[in-house]
Amino acid sequence: MRRNFHVTPLSTLGPREVIGLDLGANLDPETVNDIRSLWNTSGGILVFRDQHLTAEQHIAFSRHFGPLFGGPEGVPLQDTVSRYIHPDHPEIYRVSNQVEADGTPKGRARAGTYWHSDVSFREQPASASILYGKQIPPVGGDTLFANGHAAYEDLSQTLKDTLAPLHAVHDFAVAAATQYARPVVIEGDFDGSNRAVHPVVRTHAETGEKSLFVNPGFTSHLQNFSAGESEAILGFLYAQMTKPDYIYRHNWRQNDLIMWDNRLNMHYAIADYGDEPRYLERTTVIGERPL
Ligand code: SIN
Repeated sequence: MRRNFHVTPLSTLGPREVIGLDLGANLDPETVNDIRSLWNTSGGILVFRDQHLTAEQHIAFSRHFGPLFGGPEGVPLQDTVSRYIHPDHPEIYRVSNQVEADGTPKGRARAGTYWHSDVSFREQPASASILYGKQIPPVGGDTLFANGHAAYEDLSQTLKDTLAPLHAVHDFAVAAATQYARPVVIEGDFDGSNRAVHPVVRTHAETGEKSLFVNPGFTSHLQNFSAGESEAILGFLYAQMTKPDYIYRHNWRQNDLIMWDNRLNMHYAIADYGDEPRYLERTTVIGERPL
């Protein structure tokens, strides 16, 4: 395919950077297909450099990949994060350690400072998350991505066979108890709509590749195991998934836009930038039910 943009690898795990493509332009279907197939062969991580997008353009680009949480055809994210949603664009979740002039948070400070896969507690969790770095601290504030496909592939066949029939419960209550301040947590989030059961090994709907699909942020336990057994098995899987060999560390540049695939990656936002401003905006694409 003849492209008018450059693609270079960032890691042998697959992530690539894309330079010279303006995501704010009207993208033709061929370019969108090209992006999708690149994404599916890049460990589910593409970094688009030097983007200058309005919120509308960010949303329009994201919609090429499916309906958005918060969008007219979608469902909102959990109520607890509603205070961090962009006031004019319900599709945009704001991540920021800054406050508005009236003292209200501009976004969720230190969001995602734990390993998780976005919205895994829903029947249809996120496929893509599309995060736009609008204000990046001079040092620190990197995001880590753990490739659950590579982590799965390196397991013994015996363990793969053991994991194949297992299911895990994902529940927003796990993060609500450990990652959010009590006054912020909205009790309506515990009516069952933020709890789902998914296979421990997930087959990617587009590539057919298998990945470990559990995460410390939202997975509460394995079904049909005792609490102790579940904790031990999940502990092993998390240690496997977060081995440095399977991690891509993204050092943000101003105006980077990262599109990652939650179906095979967990991520972790490192909170090591002190009080330096950090502001990012995220859209979140509603994926399919994991199989
Ligand atoms: C998130 O979990 O979506 C936030 C990631 C980041 O701020 O780097």
